[in-house]
Amino acid sequence: MSNLLTAEVTDVHHWTDRLFTFKTTRDPAFRFASGQFTMIGLEVNGKPLLRAYSIASAAYEDMLEFLSIKVPDGPLTSRLQHLKAGDKILVGRKATGTLLPTNLLPGKHLYLLGTGTGLAPFMSLVKDPEVYDHYEKIVLVHGVRHINELAYADFLEKELPAHELIGDLVREKLIYYPTVTREPFRHNGRITLLIENGKLCDDIGLPQLNAEEDRVMLCGSPAMLADLRPLFETRGFTEGSVAQPGHYVIEKAFAEQ
Ligand code: A2P
Repeated sequence: MSNLLTAEVTDVHHWTDRLFTFKTTRDPAFRFASGQFTMIGLEVNGKPLLRAYSIASAAYEDMLEFLSIKVPDGPLTSRLQHLKAGDKILVGRKATGTLLPTNLLPGKHLYLLGTGTGLAPFMSLVKDPEVYDHYEKIVLVHGVRHINELAYADFLEKELPAHELIGDLVREKLIYYPTVTREPFRHNGRITLLIENGKLCDDIGLPQLNAEEDRVMLCGSPAMLADLRPLFETRGFTEGSVAQPGHYVIEKAFAEQ
């Protein structure tokens, strides 16, 4: 049995000339938990060309959704960016990843901190009603350079709170905090700065980050993760895993080629 499934592209949306989203059919054999990633790709010169992508759709949805950057000379994204409805892509049979609530100790607030395409696994999680059961508040922070890179902002602010399945939970518990670093916006500055100077928690009216109450998931570039990790370590947060749940978990944002 091949370790790859085929999916058909059903919708493509370009946010900017650097960022796009696409939806595909979902093979009933493909199982995953909200927050996980899988390998996806295309057949190039008779061989599969695959990269890891976080799944932006929730585990209960009957389609798959991915958020990708476009790199002009990137082996895969230079091709993926031309996808259109009806095209076929390859999807790995297995999904994996650390951004799972079960890798975290019980807590009061869940912070989902993502930059760029690091938003993708969090889109999956904030659509999943099970995640809301574990927390009083879920804070989704998305850091980008420019306003037009705030993918899904409209969905998060308007559609999700009106969602028939989880709208009630979203209105009660989800706090969406977009922040932009290279042009004026209602929130400005890198996530690292907003944590260090206390502005994030002040703005949303929650206590400053502390290991007793807060649980954190991080997804972004290696540099972002390297800068954020110590902010939590110095506050006494320990990293969680399947073997040993902790106060925070980390995933590198994929889709960089
Ligand atoms: P900045 O504009 O100051 O570089 P990118 O598109 O490069 O992945 O960046 C996405 C967002 O992540 C940008 O707002 C960027 O801010 C921010 N960022 C980049 N590097 C870091 C880092 N080391 N720590 C925190 N945020 C970062």
